[in-house]
Amino acid sequence: MKTIIEPFKIKMVEPIKLTSPAERETVLRQAGFNVFQIPAEQVIIDLLTDSGTSAMSAEQWAGMLRGDESYAGARSWYRFEAVLRELTGMPHVLPTHQGRASERILFELIGGPGKVIPSNNHFDTTRANIEHSGARAVDLVIDEGKQPRNRHPFKGNLDVSKLESLIQAVGAHSIPLCMVTVTNNSGGGQPVSLENLRAVREVCQRHGIPLFLDACRFAENAYLIKQREAGQRGRTARAIAREMFDLADGATISAKKDGLVNIGGVLLMRNDDLARRANNLLILTEGFVTYGGLAGRDLEAMAQGFTEVLDEAYLNYRLRSVAYLGEHVLAAGVPIVEPPGGHAIYVDAAAFCPHIPPAQFPGQALVCALYRHAGIRAVEIGSVMFGQVDPDTGESAAPPMELVRLAIPRRVYTQSHIDYTVEALVEIYQRRDTLRGLRIVSESQALRHFTAQFEEI
Ligand code: F0G
Repeated sequence: MKTIIEPFKIKMVEPIKLTSPAERETVLRQAGFNVFQIPAEQVIIDLLTDSGTSAMSAEQWAGMLRGDESYAGARSWYRFEAVLRELTGMPHVLPTHQGRASERILFELIGGPGKVIPSNNHFDTTRANIEHSGARAVDLVIDEGKQPRNRHPFKGNLDVSKLESLIQAVGAHSIPLCMVTVTNNSGGGQPVSLENLRAVREVCQRHGIPLFLDACRFAENAYLIKQREAGQRGRTARAIAREMFDLADGATISAKKDGLVNIGGVLLMRNDDLARRANNLLILTEGFVTYGGLAGRDLEAMAQGFTEVLDEAYLNYRLRSVAYLGEHVLAAGVPIVEPPGGHAIYVDAAAFCPHIPPAQFPGQALVCALYRHAGIRAVEIGSVMFGQVDPDTGESAAPPMELVRLAIPRRVYTQSHIDYTVEALVEIYQRRDTLRGLRIVSESQALRHFTAQFEEI
């Protein structure tokens, strides 16, 4: 059979309110043309993020009821620890409330002024935690990773020669660790190959630099390796994921993505001394080492989610549904980051609305059009998010691309929801010259994309 179906049945449903164009116009204006300010109930298809928005399985909900809420040494903790150890081979497993809590603990310990942390692309919370410690975050993705139309199969790869040059320039002693984000969210959800991970590992090892993964979407990366990397087709996603972790000295994970849960995170490492210090910080700000700021039921849901996510029928359907959205809008001429990556389709808004200059936020114009036309909520990843002038340095980091991300929550929407999204995007594309730029009327000092208010030009 050619058709790849959702490998699950629906047991519980959540109604979607079907709003009218007039209602959406009012809501959009009240929100100051900022979709973060729109109540979720006023959204028909919510593609703002794939983080914490997964539908849990019957087994996960059953685990929630079985959760052991003991303060220390809960049964749910031992189950969670065993699942994570088997999956990753890491001896030290620290539970945290979400990915950025893992990042905060890690960079408080190894960051600080004078330190430099390279990655393919740091996610914004990772960068913020590194900079908060006083260290510098450096992005070293391969050049192909910055070219929307380049169909390189592993556009998330870290450029090994740029890493060598950085080590030459600042010295290995200034680099307490190197990160690799799998898949590379800030670079279009693009995967990293095993070959690249091995090469990065080799350079790091030669210079005595530990390698850590930002492994939020490790299962999607593993399955993309299976599909795209020579010699990997015959292996299981589980074996590939294990090899990815075997190449690393530690990892931060937001379980809100491939952990298939609504809240939770993990910090993993091999080094005993680092783990001892990390556990001290964990106790200080998250919770005791066997619950880390979570309930026992959350640990159960994570243990089950990290097991289910490597089911290949699930991964095949998951990556197919993202690619399906990408291929259908591409066929109608909509410019996107190619090839489709793991968890989202990224529309190239600069190419979509060439009549709107970056200063008038073409990505935000498209985000507003998607909401107006079809009640779809997407997110701008361009000049609104990254173009702000830093009040301390007076610099603004002009983003390399003006993107709009349509992130697909896991196991939430069916094919007809995706078809509806294709139709909306294509209809807007056909009248793209009617889209209008925006100007900011008020903004906060930092992270303005959450709260900025706009008006149309
Ligand atoms: N690393 C990556 C690659 C991420 O995508 C995220 C979150 C984090 C770390 C932080 O994890 O939210 O649990 O603290 N990404 C979400 C997104 C917010 O929409 O892409 P967190």
